[in-house]
Amino acid sequence: MEIKIVENAKEILCDVLIINKFEGKETSNALVNRFAPKSFEGKPGQIFVIHTQKEYPATEILAIGLGKEQEMDNNIIRENIAKAIKKSIELKAKSVAIDFSTDYEFIIPAIMGLSIANYHFDKYKTKKEHRISEVYVSNVSGQAVELANTIGESLKLARNLANEPAAFATPSKLAEIAQGLEGIKTVIYDEPKIKEMGMGAFLAVAKGSSQSPKFIHMKYTSDNPKKRIAIIGKGLCFDSGGLDIKPPASMLNMKDDMSGAACVIGVMKALNQLKPEVEVHGLIAACENMPSSSSYKPGDILTAKNGKTIEVDNTDAEGRLTLADALCYACELGVDEVIDIATLTGACMVALGTAAAGIMGNDDEFIKNIIEVGKCSGEKYWQLPMWQEYRDNMNSDVADMKNTGTRNGGASAAGMFLKEFVTDSVKWAHIDIAGTAFLDKPYKEFCKGATGAGVRTLLSYITCQ
Ligand code: BES
Ligand code: MN
Ligand code: ZN
Repeated sequence: MEIKIVENAKEILCDVLIINKFEGKETSNALVNRFAPKSFEGKPGQIFVIHTQKEYPATEILAIGLGKEQEMDNNIIRENIAKAIKKSIELKAKSVAIDFSTDYEFIIPAIMGLSIANYHFDKYKTKKEHRISEVYVSNVSGQAVELANTIGESLKLARNLANEPAAFATPSKLAEIAQGLEGIKTVIYDEPKIKEMGMGAFLAVAKGSSQSPKFIHMKYTSDNPKKRIAIIGKGLCFDSGGLDIKPPASMLNMKDDMSGAACVIGVMKALNQLKPEVEVHGLIAACENMPSSSSYKPGDILTAKNGKTIEVDNTDAEGRLTLADALCYACELGVDEVIDIATLTGACMVALGTAAAGIMGNDDEFIKNIIEVGKCSGEKYWQLPMWQEYRDNMNSDVADMKNTGTRNGGASAAGMFLKEFVTDSVKWAHIDIAGTAFLDKPYKEFCKGATGAGVRTLLSYITCQ
């Protein structure tokens, strides 16, 4: 999809001209004012399409309701542009022009809505999905378009990676992609090195698979970084559950268990273009959780990088084991802040559904900041408690802790487990995207499949430092 800035989008020869309509206000378009029915009031999401019969350069004009002008915000624009784009795709449009009459800085959320709605994962389909290929806009700055494009491309990369089958998106493949990112210094640690670093928890999870594990360390930095941040993505390229194998229905989408890793790769890709004045470490402990004669077993006792021991209670609680070692590694880098993002618990999905990701950590102010940034970027977060009660369930008779407690309160229990591997002086936030990373059916701007959860929030959090 190519976005072109033109003098006047209204005058462009194209398939669909998209204009806005505010509730209680006429549009600036005479044709729409002449023909729109009374029922088209401009309520959010209302659509009116008119064939212009050659009275206009555009073949069709699509007016989209945005509600009351004074109530406009990024979310209303993004969601409604997405709706207009889906309608334009239905109309088989190839080229669209967007002409919004508003003082609101609409272009960034508009392009986000556009690129989210115009996405399909059809790499493996012989017959490709219909897409918009040309977009014309006017009265916007080239800089804003470029920024939105960069975020859009990162989101697309993250979605593609999580949509790819596990046979393609292997630990080695993620490592290869990380190494190919422009302007990012990447170091890959192979199995012997991972062992040497003392990552006994991560290695145990990887043991059952013929795919070798990779610990991926990407680094972006500006000349005088104001802050040092580590972002860690859960990188389970496939989660079968291991010996505590999942039932078929629960295993079906487990190629998405590296959505956190996909998010981190997407974010790192954009940093070289956005050039924020920070240092960012992107970390992924990539592996597969498989049942085999070499798998780790219930009852095994593992030693994590910080020396703490873990009794394996359930091999399906593998994500927290890989993250434990990655968190230790991040804290040893001496960063100011660590954010981990993971498809960690079914419990989080049960609690919050696809509407919001869970967030928790050791610093309420830090968490609040991320939640606020998320609100403007179109991603919702809900803070979950970190109470000692959840940790008490994980006491072990033979090791420092077990890797699971009771199923109830599972999202907070996983958070309390991770906390054991975080140095107190480091600000840490844990984001559980089990419910938001992958959709069983279309939802809001998104089609079925991967959503690129976290990319927009982490990018705007990092760039607003
Ligand atoms: N990857 C899963 C969590 C998950 C579930 C992500 C559904 C997306 C959708 C994780 O590794 C897992 O299996 N968690 C277990 C933990 C349990 C054994 C304590 C779960 O949530 O059932
Ligand atoms: Mn699991
Ligand atoms: Zn998992």
